[in-house]
Amino acid sequence: MAGRLAGKVAFVSGAARGQGRAHAVRLVEEGADVIAFDICSQLETVPYPMAVSEDLKETVRLVEELDRRIVAREADARDTAAVNALVDEGVAEFGRIDIVCANAGIVSFAENAWSLSDEQWDEMIEVNLTGVFKTVRAAVPHMIAAGNGGSIVLTSSTAGLKGMPGIAHYASAKHGLVGLMRTLALELAPHSIRVNTVHPTGVNTPMVVNDVSAALLDDNLAGGMMNALPVTMLEPVDISNAIVWLSSDEGRYVTGVALPVDAGFAIK
Ligand SMILES: NC(=O)c1ccc[n+]([C@@H]2O[C@H](COP(=O)([O-])OP(=O)(O)OC[C@H]3O[C@@H](n4cnc5c(N)ncnc54)[C@H](O)[C@@H]3O)[C@@H](O)[C@H]2O)c1
Repeated sequence: MAGRLAGKVAFVSGAARGQGRAHAVRLVEEGADVIAFDICSQLETVPYPMAVSEDLKETVRLVEELDRRIVAREADARDTAAVNALVDEGVAEFGRIDIVCANAGIVSFAENAWSLSDEQWDEMIEVNLTGVFKTVRAAVPHMIAAGNGGSIVLTSSTAGLKGMPGIAHYASAKHGLVGLMRTLALELAPHSIRVNTVHPTGVNTPMVVNDVSAALLDDNLAGGMMNALPVTMLEPVDISNAIVWLSSDEGRYVTGVALPVDAGFAIK
């Protein structure tokens, strides 16, 4: 298949549904093969249903329908051994990794920062910051060894650019990703591996389109999902398209950038 990413291999976390699934499909539409994983089980502090095994199978089906290859496994981004093993398996299958989409994440809510429980804080930092670190760490040595350069995109949030009442732990993790990205961008520049963050506003995925999140977002963020452009929520593919551009040759000199894909939310 000809495409902007023909011959490339992408490693996508949180690929069972939502943005991760859209990234996998969109990257495949541009010619990439995919190594994908998702936890496919419920975490204790997450107040909405997380992905299940059937969701990841559907991602596999969608990729295979496009006549491309995917290695998909159930794994927890916090599990170093599982993530490293999947990367090894994927590289054995495809021979390389060119693109990393560290997308897996959770959200939970509290009235304010000082109401957060230890469990909410710890699980958030472990998944949304440490899990991203571990995802990237697993892939980087293979990318360096292959010598092909590459593109790493960490999924942050508008909460990685602004304070947001009710989700201090989420905002802390998402701001933390910017520090990780800027440092990696410097460390990996000599290898022509670029590292950027994307910062979506509200996206139409099961993370926010569920009864619990919808009610809490309204209460706690006081209409904070309001964008400058006349759109309530973006679609997952809007974020995927930014990632395709960042990861293609068109983005070859873009690194160290915190890119809002946010309909102008962050400037308000
Ligand atoms: N939806 C939004 O409004 C929005 C806005 C800004 C940023 N984000 C971020 O976008 C990313 C994707 O979220 P989404 O909107 O697609 O939500 P989603 O809940 O549909 O998808 C997230 C996926 O990550 C998986 N996951 C969670 N923890 C994991 C772990 N420890 N290991 C492996 N997989 C794990 C989930 O099972 C799920 O399939 C997240 O990082 C989220 O914080 C979302």
